[in-house]
Amino acid sequence: MGDTDLDKIRDFVSQRSRLCFTGHKRDVLRHRLENRLEKLGLTDFAAYWQYLKQTSDEEARLLDCLTTNETFFFRNQDQFGHLLGVIIPDIEASRGADVVRSWGDSSRVPASSIMKLRILSAGCSTGEEPYSLAMTLLESLRYPKAWKLEIIAGDLSESCLKTATEGYYENEKLKNIPDHYIDKYMRRDADGAFIRGEVKQIVSFIPLNLNSLMNGEPFSGAASMPAQFDIIFCRNVMIYFSASCQQMLVDALHRLLVPGGYLFTGDAEPLHLFDHTFETIKGARCLIYKKTEMTNYAEAP
Ligand SMILES: C[S@@+](CC[C@H](N)C(=O)[O-])C[C@H]1O[C@@H](n2cnc3c(N)ncnc32)[C@H](O)[C@@H]1O
Repeated sequence: MGDTDLDKIRDFVSQRSRLCFTGHKRDVLRHRLENRLEKLGLTDFAAYWQYLKQTSDEEARLLDCLTTNETFFFRNQDQFGHLLGVIIPDIEASRGADVVRSWGDSSRVPASSIMKLRILSAGCSTGEEPYSLAMTLLESLRYPKAWKLEIIAGDLSESCLKTATEGYYENEKLKNIPDHYIDKYMRRDADGAFIRGEVKQIVSFIPLNLNSLMNGEPFSGAASMPAQFDIIFCRNVMIYFSASCQQMLVDALHRLLVPGGYLFTGDAEPLHLFDHTFETIKGARCLIYKKTEMTNYAEAP
């Protein structure tokens, strides 16, 4: 049924989001579109193609229903363990040393501009990843109040961002969270738990289409958005793009990191498949990469 129209829709989706539905994934596209057609009461892909062109907010609905949003709290414990036990303490020690050094410096750098930590969760789905990051920061930093902590969490899926912003998770979603974290950072009710305000205030959710970054456009979410990040989590997202788009994403993420910044990728997204200048973090037992101190192509924030 309507394979030419299916291909038109597939090409449109790829152009707008880089989501790739070639090979066996074409059947996934067909199946998800058929569900969408049924909801709209449309009979075939040709009718849907017309509807898509004529309906201003259908593009967002379409992309939303084509994303795969599987996620959970503290996904990949080794990565969170290394962040908690090694990376955050290292950053705290070195920025702390910068503050002390600045006291003896005539061109004194205000501590407020040094003690900032900016993290991007790119493809954050329903929020479990950025909230896990926020809890890890609060747990790991010796002096969290001395820091301006910013976690920017973005996704293509509007429905995921809505759930993420609400910050309520049912009991079965809480099973990976250590009990003492739930007591400290969440507020339980009979069916689940809310993320507490002190955690929520660190995280800003924004609509993000990685396609624009891959096209070389600057990062934009809000006027005050930082141009660069100390740490980027982009996990289990690039697997949905073609190999050439994955390479473009790796390059874009490299530009978005400060020199010495860290990139966390998903288990199926090792960077040795790409051309890059990241160092691999040895001994972490998981995929973490560091942008070498010397390279920086992006404008400073
Ligand atoms: C499988 S989830 C991964 C969630 C989380 N990072 C994790 O590892 O648990 C992939 C997410 O990437 C998002 N995504 C896919 N394509 C995207 C794009 N072009 N721009 C931004 N987000 C995208 C999807 O909406 C989905 O929520």
